[in-house]
Amino acid sequence: MEKKNLDWANLGFGYVQTEKRYVTNYKNGAWDEGVITEDANVVLNECAGVFQYAQTCFEGLKAYTTEDGRIVTFRPDLNEQRMKDSCTRLVMPTLPDGRFVEAVKAVVKANAEYVPPFGSGATLYLRPYMFGTNPVIGVKPANEYQFRIFTTPVGPYFKGGAKPLTLCISDYDRAAPHGTGHIKAGLNYAMSLHAITEAHKNGFDENMYLDSATRTKVEETGGANFLFVTKDNKIVTPKSDTILPSITRRSLMVVAKEYLGLEVEEREVYKDELKDFAECGLCGTAAVISPVGKIVDHGKEICLPSGMGEMGPTTKKLYETLTGIQMGRIEAPEGWVVEIEL
Ligand code: PLP
Ligand code: COI
Repeated sequence: MEKKNLDWANLGFGYVQTEKRYVTNYKNGAWDEGVITEDANVVLNECAGVFQYAQTCFEGLKAYTTEDGRIVTFRPDLNEQRMKDSCTRLVMPTLPDGRFVEAVKAVVKANAEYVPPFGSGATLYLRPYMFGTNPVIGVKPANEYQFRIFTTPVGPYFKGGAKPLTLCISDYDRAAPHGTGHIKAGLNYAMSLHAITEAHKNGFDENMYLDSATRTKVEETGGANFLFVTKDNKIVTPKSDTILPSITRRSLMVVAKEYLGLEVEEREVYKDELKDFAECGLCGTAAVISPVGKIVDHGKEICLPSGMGEMGPTTKKLYETLTGIQMGRIEAPEGWVVEIEL
Protein backbone atom coordinates (compact mmCIF):
# COMPACT_ATOMS: atom_id res chain seq x y z
CA MET A 1 0.00 0.00 0.00
CA GLU A 2 1.36 3.41 -1.07
CA LYS A 3 1.21 6.19 1.52
CA LYS A 4 -0.23 9.56 0.47
CA ASN A 5 2.32 12.14 -0.51
CA LEU A 6 1.89 14.55 2.42
CA ASP A 7 4.48 16.68 4.21
CA TRP A 8 4.14 14.46 7.31
CA ALA A 9 6.90 16.12 9.34
CA ASN A 10 5.26 19.54 9.13
CA LEU A 11 1.68 18.60 10.00
CA GLY A 12 0.13 20.46 12.92
CA PHE A 13 -2.91 19.36 14.89
CA GLY A 14 -5.49 20.29 12.25
CA TYR A 15 -8.18 18.79 10.05
CA VAL A 16 -6.98 17.26 6.79
CA GLN A 17 -9.97 15.69 5.06
CA THR A 18 -9.50 12.10 3.94
CA GLU A 19 -11.75 10.14 1.54
CA LYS A 20 -13.40 7.66 3.91
CA ARG A 21 -15.32 7.77 7.19
CA TYR A 22 -17.58 5.40 9.16
CA VAL A 23 -21.29 6.14 9.73
CA THR A 24 -24.10 4.32 11.54
CA ASN A 25 -27.60 5.56 12.44
CA TYR A 26 -29.90 4.78 15.36
CA LYS A 27 -33.66 4.80 14.76
CA ASN A 28 -36.66 3.00 16.30
CA GLY A 29 -34.48 1.67 19.10
CA ALA A 30 -31.82 -0.02 16.92
CA TRP A 31 -28.51 0.74 15.17
CA ASP A 32 -28.20 0.00 11.45
CA GLU A 33 -25.28 -2.06 10.13
CA GLY A 34 -22.90 0.85 9.58
CA VAL A 35 -20.92 1.68 6.44
CA ILE A 36 -17.75 3.33 5.23
CA THR A 37 -18.82 6.35 3.19
CA GLU A 38 -17.13 9.10 1.16
CA ASP A 39 -19.61 11.79 2.22
CA ALA A 40 -17.91 14.13 4.69
CA ASN A 41 -21.02 16.30 5.17
CA VAL A 42 -23.81 15.84 7.70
CA VAL A 43 -27.18 17.35 6.74
CA LEU A 44 -29.65 17.60 9.61
CA ASN A 45 -32.98 19.18 10.40
CA GLU A 46 -32.70 22.71 11.84
CA CYS A 47 -34.20 21.48 15.11
CA ALA A 48 -31.91 18.44 15.61
CA GLY A 49 -31.20 17.70 19.29
CA VAL A 50 -27.49 18.33 18.84
CA PHE A 51 -28.12 21.91 17.66
CA GLN A 52 -30.63 22.83 20.33
CA TYR A 53 -29.35 21.18 23.50
CA ALA A 54 -25.83 20.07 22.59
CA GLN A 55 -26.56 16.37 22.90
CA THR A 56 -23.22 15.11 21.65
CA CYS A 57 -20.13 13.35 22.93
CA PHE A 58 -16.89 12.21 21.33
CA GLU A 59 -13.66 10.27 21.66
CA GLY A 60 -10.09 10.63 20.41
CA LEU A 61 -7.50 7.96 19.62
CA LYS A 62 -4.66 7.41 17.17
CA ALA A 63 -3.37 4.89 14.64
CA TYR A 64 0.39 4.41 14.26
CA THR A 65 2.72 2.78 11.75
CA THR A 66 5.23 0.50 13.50
CA GLU A 67 8.89 0.18 12.53
CA ASP A 68 8.12 -3.08 10.68
CA GLY A 69 5.27 -1.45 8.72
CA ARG A 70 2.21 -2.72 10.61
CA ILE A 71 -0.66 -0.37 11.48
CA VAL A 72 -1.81 -0.42 15.10
CA THR A 73 -4.11 1.43 17.49
CA PHE A 74 -3.67 1.91 21.23
CA ARG A 75 -6.23 0.55 23.73
CA PRO A 76 -9.37 1.27 21.64
CA ASP A 77 -11.39 -0.86 24.08
CA LEU A 78 -10.91 1.87 26.69
CA ASN A 79 -12.24 4.51 24.28
CA GLU A 80 -15.22 2.21 23.66
CA GLN A 81 -15.91 1.97 27.38
CA ARG A 82 -15.51 5.70 27.96
CA MET A 83 -17.83 6.51 25.04
CA LYS A 84 -20.43 4.21 26.63
CA ASP A 85 -20.08 6.11 29.90
CA SER A 86 -20.47 9.43 28.07
CA CYS A 87 -23.56 8.21 26.16
CA THR A 88 -25.19 6.85 29.29
CA ARG A 89 -24.68 10.12 31.18
CA LEU A 90 -26.10 12.14 28.24
CA VAL A 91 -29.10 9.78 27.79
CA MET A 92 -27.85 8.64 24.39
CA PRO A 93 -28.00 5.03 23.14
CA THR A 94 -24.80 2.97 23.41
CA LEU A 95 -23.39 0.98 20.51
CA PRO A 96 -23.61 -2.82 20.77
CA ASP A 97 -20.54 -4.31 22.53
CA GLY A 98 -17.51 -4.49 20.25
CA ARG A 99 -19.06 -2.32 17.54
CA PHE A 100 -16.90 0.71 18.40
CA VAL A 101 -13.65 -1.25 18.04
CA GLU A 102 -14.93 -2.85 14.81
CA ALA A 103 -15.69 0.63 13.45
CA VAL A 104 -12.21 1.83 14.48
CA LYS A 105 -10.63 -1.08 12.59
CA ALA A 106 -12.80 -0.49 9.51
CA VAL A 107 -12.09 3.23 9.32
CA VAL A 108 -8.33 2.85 9.85
CA LYS A 109 -8.19 0.15 7.17
CA ALA A 110 -10.13 2.41 4.77
CA ASN A 111 -7.65 5.26 5.48
CA ALA A 112 -4.44 3.19 5.62
CA GLU A 113 -2.72 5.47 3.09
CA TYR A 114 -3.13 8.34 5.55
CA VAL A 115 -1.51 6.60 8.52
CA PRO A 116 1.78 8.53 8.67
CA PRO A 117 5.00 6.53 8.11
CA PHE A 118 7.06 5.34 11.11
CA GLY A 119 9.47 8.00 12.31
CA SER A 120 7.65 10.90 10.63
CA GLY A 121 6.51 12.35 13.95
CA ALA A 122 2.89 12.29 12.75
CA THR A 123 -0.01 9.91 13.50
CA LEU A 124 -3.55 9.34 12.24
CA TYR A 125 -6.02 10.87 14.69
CA LEU A 126 -9.45 9.25 14.92
CA ARG A 127 -12.47 11.21 16.04
CA PRO A 128 -15.48 9.03 16.96
CA TYR A 129 -18.59 11.03 17.90
CA MET A 130 -22.33 10.69 18.37
CA PHE A 131 -25.13 13.25 18.24
CA GLY A 132 -28.92 13.56 18.42
CA THR A 133 -30.37 13.98 14.93
CA ASN A 134 -34.18 14.26 15.14
CA PRO A 135 -36.07 17.48 15.94
CA VAL A 136 -36.23 18.23 19.68
CA ILE A 137 -37.69 21.49 21.02
CA GLY A 138 -38.84 20.67 24.56
CA VAL A 139 -35.81 19.91 26.73
CA LYS A 140 -35.52 16.13 26.37
CA PRO A 141 -33.23 13.56 24.76
CA ALA A 142 -33.48 12.89 21.02
CA ASN A 143 -34.63 9.45 19.88
CA GLU A 144 -32.57 9.24 16.69
CA TYR A 145 -28.77 9.44 16.62
CA GLN A 146 -25.79 9.22 14.33
CA PHE A 147 -22.36 7.82 15.24
CA ARG A 148 -19.42 8.64 12.97
CA ILE A 149 -15.65 8.26 12.94
CA PHE A 150 -13.51 10.42 10.69
CA THR A 151 -9.72 10.40 10.56
CA THR A 152 -7.15 13.13 10.05
CA PRO A 153 -3.35 12.92 9.95
CA VAL A 154 -1.87 15.10 12.71
CA GLY A 155 1.40 16.37 14.10
CA PRO A 156 2.02 17.74 17.62
CA TYR A 157 -0.93 19.31 19.49
CA PHE A 158 1.20 22.19 20.74
CA LYS A 159 3.24 24.23 18.27
CA GLY A 160 6.91 23.75 19.05
CA GLY A 161 6.53 20.02 19.80
CA ALA A 162 8.41 19.15 22.96
CA LYS A 163 9.17 22.73 24.07
CA PRO A 164 7.93 23.31 27.65
CA LEU A 165 4.61 25.14 27.94
CA THR A 166 3.50 28.05 30.06
CA LEU A 167 0.13 27.62 31.78
CA CYS A 168 -2.07 30.02 33.68
CA ILE A 169 -4.35 29.16 36.55
CA SER A 170 -7.82 29.90 35.22
CA ASP A 171 -10.49 31.93 36.98
CA TYR A 172 -13.08 29.98 35.01
CA ASP A 173 -14.30 26.51 35.91
CA ARG A 174 -14.36 23.64 33.48
CA ALA A 175 -16.62 21.26 35.38
CA ALA A 176 -18.95 21.29 38.39
CA PRO A 177 -19.17 18.77 41.22
CA HIS A 178 -21.68 16.10 40.14
CA GLY A 179 -21.60 17.55 36.60
CA THR A 180 -20.12 16.17 33.36
CA GLY A 181 -16.37 16.73 33.84
CA HIS A 182 -15.70 12.97 33.91
CA ILE A 183 -17.22 12.29 30.48
CA LYS A 184 -16.29 13.52 27.02
CA ALA A 185 -19.34 15.71 26.38
CA GLY A 186 -19.03 18.39 23.70
CA LEU A 187 -20.52 20.85 26.18
CA ASN A 188 -17.41 20.64 28.42
CA TYR A 189 -15.32 21.93 25.54
CA ALA A 190 -17.81 24.69 24.65
CA MET A 191 -17.47 25.78 28.30
CA SER A 192 -13.70 26.06 27.90
CA LEU A 193 -13.58 28.10 24.68
CA HIS A 194 -13.81 31.52 26.33
CA ALA A 195 -11.15 30.57 28.89
CA ILE A 196 -8.70 29.22 26.31
CA THR A 197 -9.19 32.24 24.04
CA GLU A 198 -8.40 34.55 26.97
CA ALA A 199 -5.38 32.45 27.96
CA HIS A 200 -3.97 32.58 24.43
CA LYS A 201 -4.62 36.33 24.22
CA ASN A 202 -2.60 36.73 27.42
CA GLY A 203 0.31 34.72 26.00
CA PHE A 204 -0.33 31.37 27.75
CA ASP A 205 -0.39 27.98 26.05
CA GLU A 206 -3.11 26.41 28.20
CA ASN A 207 -5.22 26.80 31.34
CA MET A 208 -4.82 24.89 34.56
CA TYR A 209 -8.31 24.41 35.98
CA LEU A 210 -8.86 24.09 39.72
CA ASP A 211 -11.68 22.21 41.42
CA SER A 212 -14.70 24.47 41.26
CA ALA A 213 -15.92 23.63 44.79
CA THR A 214 -12.87 24.88 46.73
CA ARG A 215 -10.50 26.30 44.08
CA THR A 216 -7.58 24.81 46.00
CA LYS A 217 -6.95 21.59 44.07
CA VAL A 218 -5.47 20.93 40.63
CA GLU A 219 -7.86 19.35 38.12
CA GLU A 220 -6.72 19.28 34.48
CA THR A 221 -6.40 21.43 31.36
CA GLY A 222 -9.05 21.79 28.65
CA GLY A 223 -7.73 18.70 26.85
CA ALA A 224 -5.28 16.76 29.03
CA ASN A 225 -4.63 15.38 32.54
CA PHE A 226 -1.63 16.33 34.67
CA LEU A 227 1.32 14.21 35.74
CA PHE A 228 3.83 15.60 38.24
CA VAL A 229 7.25 14.29 39.19
CA THR A 230 8.33 14.93 42.78
CA LYS A 231 11.90 15.86 43.70
CA ASP A 232 12.41 12.28 44.90
CA ASN A 233 11.21 10.97 41.51
CA LYS A 234 7.72 9.79 42.42
CA ILE A 235 4.90 10.18 39.89
CA VAL A 236 1.83 11.99 41.18
CA THR A 237 -1.45 12.55 39.32
CA PRO A 238 -4.58 14.35 40.56
CA LYS A 239 -7.47 12.21 41.74
CA SER A 240 -10.83 13.83 41.09
CA ASP A 241 -14.35 12.84 40.08
CA THR A 242 -14.64 15.86 37.81
CA ILE A 243 -11.74 15.21 35.42
CA LEU A 244 -11.73 13.01 32.33
CA PRO A 245 -10.17 9.60 33.07
CA SER A 246 -7.38 9.92 30.51
CA ILE A 247 -6.33 6.68 28.86
CA THR A 248 -2.84 8.11 28.31
CA ARG A 249 -2.52 9.01 32.00
CA ARG A 250 -3.78 5.60 33.15
CA SER A 251 -1.31 3.93 30.78
CA LEU A 252 1.57 6.16 31.93
CA MET A 253 0.95 5.21 35.56
CA VAL A 254 1.42 1.56 34.56
CA VAL A 255 4.50 2.44 32.47
CA ALA A 256 6.01 4.40 35.39
CA LYS A 257 5.47 1.57 37.83
CA GLU A 258 6.02 -1.54 35.72
CA TYR A 259 8.57 -0.38 33.13
CA LEU A 260 10.48 2.33 34.99
CA GLY A 261 10.13 1.01 38.54
CA LEU A 262 8.88 4.34 39.88
CA GLU A 263 6.51 4.87 42.76
CA VAL A 264 3.14 6.24 41.58
CA GLU A 265 0.41 8.03 43.46
CA GLU A 266 -3.09 9.11 42.43
CA ARG A 267 -4.27 11.60 45.03
CA GLU A 268 -5.60 15.09 45.53
CA VAL A 269 -3.00 17.64 44.48
CA TYR A 270 -3.19 21.08 46.06
CA LYS A 271 -2.31 24.25 44.18
CA ASP A 272 0.02 25.13 47.07
CA GLU A 273 2.14 22.05 46.31
CA LEU A 274 2.94 23.10 42.75
CA LYS A 275 6.11 24.92 43.80
CA ASP A 276 7.52 21.67 45.22
CA PHE A 277 7.38 19.49 42.08
CA ALA A 278 10.42 18.82 39.88
CA GLU A 279 8.56 18.25 36.58
CA CYS A 280 5.07 18.58 35.18
CA GLY A 281 3.51 17.20 32.02
CA LEU A 282 0.17 17.27 30.22
CA CYS A 283 -0.95 13.87 29.06
CA GLY A 284 -3.56 12.87 26.54
CA THR A 285 -3.98 11.34 23.11
CA ALA A 286 -3.40 14.67 21.37
CA ALA A 287 -0.90 16.02 23.92
CA VAL A 288 0.99 12.66 24.33
CA ILE A 289 3.14 14.08 27.17
CA SER A 290 3.77 17.77 26.72
CA PRO A 291 6.15 19.23 29.29
CA VAL A 292 5.16 22.25 31.38
CA GLY A 293 7.92 24.73 32.29
CA LYS A 294 5.99 27.43 34.09
CA ILE A 295 2.62 27.93 35.79
CA VAL A 296 1.41 31.48 36.42
CA ASP A 297 -0.98 32.09 39.30
CA HIS A 298 -2.35 35.62 38.94
CA GLY A 299 1.05 37.12 38.15
CA LYS A 300 3.01 34.85 40.51
CA GLU A 301 5.32 32.59 38.52
CA ILE A 302 5.89 28.98 39.57
CA CYS A 303 8.91 27.79 37.58
CA LEU A 304 9.44 24.02 37.37
CA PRO A 305 13.11 23.13 38.00
CA SER A 306 13.11 21.25 34.66
CA GLY A 307 13.06 24.71 33.03
CA MET A 308 11.86 26.14 29.72
CA GLY A 309 14.54 24.54 27.53
CA GLU A 310 13.53 20.91 27.26
CA MET A 311 11.51 18.07 28.78
CA GLY A 312 12.58 16.98 32.27
CA PRO A 313 14.48 13.66 32.48
CA THR A 314 11.66 11.58 33.99
CA THR A 315 9.02 13.05 31.66
CA LYS A 316 11.34 12.17 28.79
CA LYS A 317 11.69 8.55 29.95
CA LEU A 318 7.91 8.27 30.27
CA TYR A 319 7.46 9.79 26.82
CA GLU A 320 9.97 7.48 25.20
CA THR A 321 8.62 4.36 26.84
CA LEU A 322 4.98 5.14 26.06
CA THR A 323 5.61 6.09 22.42
CA GLY A 324 7.93 3.06 22.13
CA ILE A 325 5.04 0.83 23.22
CA GLN A 326 2.56 2.61 20.93
CA MET A 327 4.83 2.28 17.91
CA GLY A 328 5.84 -1.32 18.56
CA ARG A 329 9.48 -0.68 19.56
CA ILE A 330 8.90 -1.82 23.15
CA GLU A 331 6.80 -4.84 24.09
CA ALA A 332 3.33 -3.77 25.21
CA PRO A 333 1.30 -5.17 28.08
CA GLU A 334 -1.23 -7.77 26.86
CA GLY A 335 -4.06 -6.20 24.84
CA TRP A 336 -2.73 -2.64 24.67
CA VAL A 337 -1.72 -2.63 21.01
CA VAL A 338 -4.37 -3.70 18.50
CA GLU A 339 -3.18 -4.45 14.98
CA ILE A 340 -5.31 -3.47 11.99
CA GLU A 341 -5.54 -6.25 9.42
CA LEU A 342 -5.23 -4.73 5.98
N1 PLP B 1 -8.75 15.50 29.65
C1 PLP B 1 -9.53 16.06 28.72
C2 PLP B 1 -10.44 17.16 29.13
C3 PLP B 1 -9.47 15.60 27.39
O1 PLP B 1 -10.22 16.15 26.46
C4 PLP B 1 -8.57 14.56 27.06
C5 PLP B 1 -8.50 14.05 25.71
O2 PLP B 1 -9.07 13.08 25.33
C6 PLP B 1 -7.78 14.02 28.08
C7 PLP B 1 -7.89 14.51 29.35
C8 PLP B 1 -6.83 12.91 27.78
O3 PLP B 1 -7.50 11.69 27.63
P1 PLP B 1 -6.89 10.52 26.74
O4 PLP B 1 -5.55 10.24 27.29
O5 PLP B 1 -7.83 9.40 26.94
O6 PLP B 1 -6.84 11.03 25.36
C1 COI C 1 -7.66 14.06 22.60
O1 COI C 1 -6.56 14.15 23.12
O2 COI C 1 -7.99 13.11 21.88
C2 COI C 1 -8.68 15.08 22.82
O3 COI C 1 -9.83 14.82 22.53
C3 COI C 1 -8.30 16.40 23.37
C4 COI C 1 -8.61 17.53 22.48
C5 COI C 1 -8.15 18.77 23.16
C6 COI C 1 -8.01 17.43 21.12
